[in-house]
Amino acid sequence: MTIIRISDLPAHNGQVVTLRGWVYDRTDKGKLQFIQLRDGTGIVQCVAFKREMDEAEFEIASKLTQESSIIVTGTVRADPRAPGVPGGWELGISKLELVQMAEEYPITPKEHGVEFLMDNRHLWLRSKRQWAILRIRAAIVRALRNWLDDQGFLLVDTPIITPTAGENTTNLFQIDYFGEPAYLAQTGQLYNEANMMAFGRVYCFGPTFRAEKSKTRRHLMEFWMLEPELAFCSLEELMELEEAMIAHVVAAVLEKHQPELAILERDLSRLEAIKAPFARISYDEAVERLQKLHAETTDPEAKAELAIQWGDDFGSPHETAIANMFDRPVFVYHYPTAIKAFYMEPVAGRPEVCRSVDLLAPEGYGEITGGSERIADAALLDKQIATIGIDPSNYKWYLELRRFGTVPHAGFGLGLERTVAWICGLPHVRETIPYARMLNRHYP
Ligand code: 4AD
Ligand code: MG
Repeated sequence: MTIIRISDLPAHNGQVVTLRGWVYDRTDKGKLQFIQLRDGTGIVQCVAFKREMDEAEFEIASKLTQESSIIVTGTVRADPRAPGVPGGWELGISKLELVQMAEEYPITPKEHGVEFLMDNRHLWLRSKRQWAILRIRAAIVRALRNWLDDQGFLLVDTPIITPTAGENTTNLFQIDYFGEPAYLAQTGQLYNEANMMAFGRVYCFGPTFRAEKSKTRRHLMEFWMLEPELAFCSLEELMELEEAMIAHVVAAVLEKHQPELAILERDLSRLEAIKAPFARISYDEAVERLQKLHAETTDPEAKAELAIQWGDDFGSPHETAIANMFDRPVFVYHYPTAIKAFYMEPVAGRPEVCRSVDLLAPEGYGEITGGSERIADAALLDKQIATIGIDPSNYKWYLELRRFGTVPHAGFGLGLERTVAWICGLPHVRETIPYARMLNRHYP
């Protein structure tokens, strides 16, 4: 008796196998029970036929509740009409063992409100849609890491508890570190820069924290960021790296995850269009385009949202409007220095803008990466650190990087959850992470 998982069914056509899992759904046809069995790798239709089974076991089959756990043995049959994930396979049950008859399950195939589902996130994870999303999330992580590893980047982990702010002080989570203030990392970047000087090309990938008092569909308090950092790298080279990486990731998901994308009803043509090169426009040009669009817009509400002046940061409506001008992600570079982080290199001869670049995803998903060239000059960096509002002595180590063989360098951070939302086509980031941390939620 071979124990297999549902994803292995195609290799066992006609054979007797054992599957172990949970009852996703059951249809009662009297002498026939159609059990949709899931085991984490997929869903398969298992057919219990009274005549072909032990009577007591058939009795159990005909009473199985949603999410009951069972072990079934039977013959694998190819049947193009059989539902499932992926469909086309059926198991004719000859033996059924009950592990546990589940109590009445709170989440039924009927519609539930989002807050109810988020309260039951630990159970909601078992649903088909969440299965699809979290498998694509894992696929994206795998593709990102494989690609960077192949390009000669070294994974070097960065700390979560830090004495400094990595970006700014407006959204820091402060903790009490045995009487000293410490902060949850907003970014691994500053440590990445030290690691980069040791290994040339590095990346870190871990959870980052922002106490954002905002309740938007793009913001989480805890999110995962992938951050590559490269020695001897310019902003132009950084953009080439980013577009190659993103195109690779989208292609990898399209290649291996069609069943998941089908469950999510993702418009594949939008993903198939994601090929390098991506468009590149300066912040100046983006503002000009937005002002033109603003002038042409007649709907008062839309018009008000699009208003912008040079120097303003983009809000979601601006990002969406710019993204809608292109069929693939678009880089916006050289933002005003005043609205970007302290470590960004000013543009030579025009210090009011900096060597920064954000990548805006299509279809209104907003900024998925943010990066820049880093200030190389120790004196300028020192001056910038003085503006942050945290004891500059905590940045001593970071400044030392500029004294011992500094080099031009650049890097970026990719927000995993926003990337997952975009690739999956989801309206909100809350479903892109197993347990979302939001303004009003840190349960379960
Ligand atoms: O643009 P950010 O703040 O950049 C940094 O932290 C740099 N230190 C990265 C680097 O250069 N190494 O954040 C990077 C990305 C954003 O583009 C966005 O995708 C995501 O992280 N992000 C968030 N995602 C979800 N919730 C939030 N509150 C986010 N804040 C940023
Ligand atoms: Mg940013």
